[in-house]
Amino acid sequence: MANLWYICLLFFLARNSLVLSISSHTNNWAVLVGSSRYWFNYRHESNVLSIYHSVKRLGIPDSNIILMLADDMACDPRNPRPATIFNDVNQQINVYGDDIEVDYRGYEVTVENFVRVLTGRLDKAVSQSKRLLTNERSNVLVYMTGHGGDGFLKFQDHEEISNAELADIFQQMWQKRRYNELLFIIDTCHAESMSSLFYSPNIIGVGSSLVTEESFSHHLDDTIGVHIIDRWTYFALAFLEKLKPGSKATLNSMFDYLARQKVESTPYIRTDLFRRNFSEVLVTDFFGSVRKIELMSTSDSLPLPPPHQRNDIEDVVIDDGEKSMRTNQFSPPLSPEDMIKPT
Ligand SMILES: *[C@@H]1O[C@H](CO)[C@@H](O)[C@H](O)[C@H]1NC(C)=O
Repeated sequence: MANLWYICLLFFLARNSLVLSISSHTNNWAVLVGSSRYWFNYRHESNVLSIYHSVKRLGIPDSNIILMLADDMACDPRNPRPATIFNDVNQQINVYGDDIEVDYRGYEVTVENFVRVLTGRLDKAVSQSKRLLTNERSNVLVYMTGHGGDGFLKFQDHEEISNAELADIFQQMWQKRRYNELLFIIDTCHAESMSSLFYSPNIIGVGSSLVTEESFSHHLDDTIGVHIIDRWTYFALAFLEKLKPGSKATLNSMFDYLARQKVESTPYIRTDLFRRNFSEVLVTDFFGSVRKIELMSTSDSLPLPPPHQRNDIEDVVIDDGEKSMRTNQFSPPLSPEDMIKPT
């Protein structure tokens, strides 16, 4: 009984404590949104694809990434190098490779779809890959980029999401236990305004500029004819590209690196809602992936095939949010009495 109380207390602390320093998440997710379309907004697409490649390289699999993108740049007739999108100075890094899984493209990039994805209110017919299957142990990175003003972000020159709506969406996610910790980043003008109304626990709000400022693009590429990438994201990548999966670099060190001299607007960070010691938050708590492996003892009640059929069985459970799976190379047919009931 005393043990039980102890466990309850630990759980309470994990969810509510100020003193906890190691993140208690067991799975990582990313929602990456480029909210613009049209050729002259090339840079927004390159922003979001650059972040996409970084989180993938640091360990978040496509199954845990929701990518919303107009996806109309690579094949635009004005693109002098079709099927490519570059994000660097010398056109060396093509971020539009074969390995991109866009979940919402073109006219699917709407405020409604964005809200539905985050709050989990999608129609039954929507496939698994388009869903944010997070739980109360998920750390979620939400990165957005596009044209914004004081208190809103435009979606494809057609509609906009307001800062109040965004704050309410995150509150709904918290109430529905859809995240453990959430890092919200927005690269847009007047970016601070998008985080200013948040009121839910465990959110870090980051923006590329203060509410009074515009954000700037990094450079114009003469041969492509448009601005290639925005400054905050460009330098964030310069930092992220140096990290390896499992890196112990802190978010603080990343934000120190993103100084005003580089970004030219004033990067904004809001940490007052966050319950852990912010100095101890790692970049890879959000830009990477934890994969905790639990070893199950053989006395667990899952039926095993007869010994002569087993040679390579791994009793390993990969805790990957709701997508937990059991890797077991042989699955012999089960008789009805062997069937186990889901717990
Ligand atoms: C937060 O973490 C830093 C770095 O480990 C430490 O120096 C600082 O004392 C901590 N602050 C609190 C309030 O625990």
